[in-house]
Amino acid sequence: MKTSVGIGLLGLGVVGGGVARTLVERADHVRQLAGCKLSLEGVLVRDPSRPRSFDVPSSLVTTRVEDILDNPAVDVVVEVMGGQTPALDYIVKAISLDKHIVTANKEVMAKQGPDLLTLARKKGVQVMFEASVAGGTPIIGPLLRDLVSNEISSIHAIINGTTNYILTQMVHQGVGFDDALRAAQELGYAESDPTNDVEGIDAAYKLAILSTLAFRARIKDSDVYREGITRLDARDFLYARELGYTIKLLAIANMRDGVVEAHVHPAFVPSDVMLAKVEGVLNAVEVEADMVGRVLFTGPGAGAEPTASAVVADAIGIARNIVGNVTPPTPLRLSENVRVSPMSDLETKYYLRLNVDDRPGVFARIAKLLGDLDISIASVIQKETDEAAQRAEIVMMTHRAREAAMTNALGLLSELDVVNDVGNLVRVEEWE
Ligand code: NAP
Ligand code: HSE
Repeated sequence: MKTSVGIGLLGLGVVGGGVARTLVERADHVRQLAGCKLSLEGVLVRDPSRPRSFDVPSSLVTTRVEDILDNPAVDVVVEVMGGQTPALDYIVKAISLDKHIVTANKEVMAKQGPDLLTLARKKGVQVMFEASVAGGTPIIGPLLRDLVSNEISSIHAIINGTTNYILTQMVHQGVGFDDALRAAQELGYAESDPTNDVEGIDAAYKLAILSTLAFRARIKDSDVYREGITRLDARDFLYARELGYTIKLLAIANMRDGVVEAHVHPAFVPSDVMLAKVEGVLNAVEVEADMVGRVLFTGPGAGAEPTASAVVADAIGIARNIVGNVTPPTPLRLSENVRVSPMSDLETKYYLRLNVDDRPGVFARIAKLLGDLDISIASVIQKETDEAAQRAEIVMMTHRAREAAMTNALGLLSELDVVNDVGNLVRVEEWE
């Protein structure tokens, strides 16, 4: 029987440091759970001279990936480098060399996950990726295992810790966007390029992974419509609160009659629903399914320890299978008969903030323009009247309308002589 399972670590940054620390400092606990020792056999970095949050023996550190992949003592390759290149190549090479994989890489799993799982099945190895979505919060395992008897109809999720942290700091601490982002970077939450966080790219990768598992159909990151948080203004938060909402970067996916819609964007969320209360770096994934109803998974979505918690648990799971000589079950069977609908087909409510001339007849013209496009106004508040300049800010909430109509309306509104500026448009999500 195997008494030691060798780990090759690709990356020793925020997550890699946490993984190395856990393997070393909790070695006895890990050995008990896995039924064997998990021994760190090598660590790949770019720059060995960089200071590390956790120091591993220098004899284990290398800048040559072959030292890890060609090492027969390495059974499991833990990829925590990030990015598509060269991480994907390294994973494919490792699988072809019969190594098991644990990865926290949402980009690779969103773009190539189903192919990697197929390749791994052919080679009789496992690819585990719990840390790729929601950091330390279990969601991949529940979707692959605990909820499989259900038909899942929707996902509503906050799956980017950096943006949730930024939004929370802006709302509650009055901190500006740049300062909040800097703090998230210092805390190790942000991606190496934080554009991926603030533009919703990271959340779109994660939603593609969740949708693929939940709806058992291949949903790629390019199938996910996305907008980031950079257009949000302090006034939007103020008005949202006045109207009984908070603003979150939501990842939403629905499945109806074989058609999936998947989108990531800021959304008004009613203050009294659970997701509105998910703050800071916390993530939450709400799954609606036919047998269980609504279930909510919430917890830390980023950071060294929470993410290492998921990575090491995956490694322990693989080690148990190696020791027990267990052939892991086929993780995924994907349907070919699912279609992704375009964003223009979406129907939702909207919040619209406009800066307009403050004179008679202005509102009537705006209402007519929207009415002609079948967009019905639910409420209007006039804000910040500047009498001298004869300008005012108006905030509107609409009833459900089609996205295609709203896109059309935005173009026409910006051409209207009485509209000085279309301040912002935010979709409004409602819960029954
Ligand atoms: P990070 O701090 O930037 O660390 C990346 C590590 O990979 C560094 O040690 C870097 O080496 C190494 N590396 C990168 N490219 C390399 C290359 N071409 N050759 C050799 N080594 C290379 O990133 P991280 O925050 O730990 O994130 C790692 C992965 O986990 C990403 O996929 C990320 O999306 C995912 N993730 C992160 C979190 C989080 O909270 N940070 C949470 C969940 C998932 P050097 O140190 O020498 O530069
Ligand atoms: N940058 C990511 C986030 C890390 O902020 O959620 C976790 O995937």
